[in-house]
Amino acid sequence: MAHTAAPATQHLAAPRPAADDSLLWSDARKLGYAPLDATHREFYTVVLHLLACDAATAAAALAAFEAHAVAHFGQEEAWMRDTAFPAAGCHADEHAAVLASVHEVQALLADGRAGPPLLHSLAEHLLAWFPGHADHMDSALAGWMVKRSHGGAPVVLRRRGG
Ligand SMILES: [Fe+2]
Ligand SMILES: [Fe+2]
Repeated sequence: MAHTAAPATQHLAAPRPAADDSLLWSDARKLGYAPLDATHREFYTVVLHLLACDAATAAAALAAFEAHAVAHFGQEEAWMRDTAFPAAGCHADEHAAVLASVHEVQALLADGRAGPPLLHSLAEHLLAWFPGHADHMDSALAGWMVKRSHGGAPVVLRRRGG
């Protein structure tokens, strides 16, 4: 029988799968800066609630994601600001674009002009957006923050099969 499962361990230098749009967090997403990795794990939890919401839970799920996003993006932007990170502008622009979409959907939901299907679609877009953002922007920030605190490149420890 053909065995197509992913290898049990992944090295940092190993190529990433082309389709990295899984619904779940995995240790393969770690960037090596623990506070950032913890926030990114939480991102997957709140987005999953958004993806699974129904009419009764829609407003709370969207409010929870908005609160997460404000804290998540705000923390990254504070790190960039406080450490004079170069090229913080485009990174913050992506955050602002995501928050603008979230606020737009919140307004539609509050007016009764949208319901769970729009929130499910937002969650799908967030899951498709995140890997590229993490790879291109958050990973540079993680490396910068680790280098500042330890004087070296980030070391990523992953559980087997994580
Ligand atoms: Fe992030
Ligand atoms: Fe970010």
